[in-house]
Amino acid sequence: MRRAGRVVREVLELLRSQVKPGVTTMDLEQTAANRLDELGVKAAFKGYGGYPCVLCASVNSEVVHGIPSTKRVLKEGDIVSLDFGAFVEGYCGDAAITVPVGVIDKETARLLKVTEASLHAGIAAVRPGATLGDVGAAVQGVVESEGFSVVRDFVGHGIGVRMHEDPQVPNFGEVGRGMKLRAGMVIAIEPMVNAGKPDVMVLDDGWTAVAKDGSMSAHFEHTVAVTATGARVLTE
Ligand code: MF3
Ligand code: CO
Repeated sequence: MRRAGRVVREVLELLRSQVKPGVTTMDLEQTAANRLDELGVKAAFKGYGGYPCVLCASVNSEVVHGIPSTKRVLKEGDIVSLDFGAFVEGYCGDAAITVPVGVIDKETARLLKVTEASLHAGIAAVRPGATLGDVGAAVQGVVESEGFSVVRDFVGHGIGVRMHEDPQVPNFGEVGRGMKLRAGMVIAIEPMVNAGKPDVMVLDDGWTAVAKDGSMSAHFEHTVAVTATGARVLTE
């Protein structure tokens, strides 16, 4: 799974370096698809439930599952969440980053910082004997103490020979509640955070989830293994 995670990280960093005003989300899709071809690696998203691309690229108030498009031109001040997964030797890696396009305003920069920090707080709660409620509470605590909202309609997940396995991994919860983690489990932790209210709706394309109030939304994700002593981040 670390091998799959390395490929996912390589592609995300390649995409990050390509993000600038004037680039379309389809340009990013093509970069990701080309690199997968070169590596001989299988995309995790394309064909999943009919999803048409290897990449999800969600701009500004789009929360997750934005479909790359030649018409979606990134402009200065935008943020774009890049969510990408791959299978290597039968195992899946899944990760996401949200990237600023040029210079962004201070409040949006804070949203990105807090969302990434909430992911790391969730990871820090991972160890054998900890519960999924501990992980969710850690994520939620960081987000809400900064005045932002955790999206409830989408959650993280177990991951292994399939992208989505049990259990669900919510980004909210109560300490001590939920399934206990054990060494050897692997989960994808993926906070989706809205600057405004937590409510989302899915657009008519059947995929793109947007913040109902139109507020900015950020998303960071890692695939994380539970080890004897804590967590190992497989997509770093
Ligand atoms: N990272 C997303 C997830 O964990 C990717 C799924 S997009 C899909 O659910 F198109 F593959 F569904
Ligand atoms: Co995921």
